[in-house]
Amino acid sequence: MAIMRLGRVEVRCPNWEKSIDYYKRVIGLIETAREEDRVYLKAWDEHDHHSVILKKADSAGLEHLAFKCEFSSDLDLYEQKLNNYGIDTERVPAGTRIAEGEAVRFTLPTGQIVELYNQVEVVGNGLALVNPDPWPDGLLGMHPTRLDHLLISGEDVDGAIKIFTDIFGFHVSEQLVAGEKNDQTIAKWLFKTNTAHDIAIIKGPQNKLHHFAFWLDEWVELRNAADIMAKNDVMIDAGPTRHGVTRGTTIYFFDPSGNRNEVFCGGYITYPDSPTITWTEDTIGKAVFYFERELNERFITVVS
Ligand SMILES: [Fe+2]
Repeated sequence: MAIMRLGRVEVRCPNWEKSIDYYKRVIGLIETAREEDRVYLKAWDEHDHHSVILKKADSAGLEHLAFKCEFSSDLDLYEQKLNNYGIDTERVPAGTRIAEGEAVRFTLPTGQIVELYNQVEVVGNGLALVNPDPWPDGLLGMHPTRLDHLLISGEDVDGAIKIFTDIFGFHVSEQLVAGEKNDQTIAKWLFKTNTAHDIAIIKGPQNKLHHFAFWLDEWVELRNAADIMAKNDVMIDAGPTRHGVTRGTTIYFFDPSGNRNEVFCGGYITYPDSPTITWTEDTIGKAVFYFERELNERFITVVS
């Protein structure tokens, strides 16, 4: 039984046409399908049909996030585990969205809707599986290789983290803590793959998205991404800079609908026996923005 990765996010986009153009031309995702109120996109090196769904809506935010499981039978097993834990689940029938099979859906204590799935149409990454070139022609914009992680906020952070660790077997790579005994959680970074984090959860407004992030392979690509943001008048929130947490390099910026994006590069790899790294509240500036050593007000207060 195994969650393999963060497979998709569905984000609400009130600024509809501009958001579609931005995700395709500025970020450089590839459109794989479209219906009246949804556009399905993938990063170029992903093999599955989509990893980002844009949803036409009146306000920005996260419609759902989903993890891809290794086997179809994982859905039954996780459903049973969630139910035994006292968490209600429902089945999302195959075909509810384009190219997707059945999913198990539940709500985190922090308010976000999570789905678990195995079946999704595979379209490939545009490269041969025998003797491939390193990248396909015709890439646009920042062209990240893949969706990497997301940061969500809510009130019961510890409750949400327990679900990830106890039911799904995630590990905590890093934590930011407060209180005299350093026993109050501000945020935790969790991994199931061997990257520094697949999801992070921070104490804050209930059922909100702080950002979702795309992976870039090299630091120089972050500079190119910043050039592309400036060229296209994308609103940059912070960076290019480095995180203390994960050691990754980063830029935060906003899509035309007000959802925060990140391009993320580097950081260490993790194993199930990697120790948890702790940052104390007095070092929060360095933990988040290692070069600046302080947070900007917008980064702390703006979520979607
Ligand atoms: Fe991030």
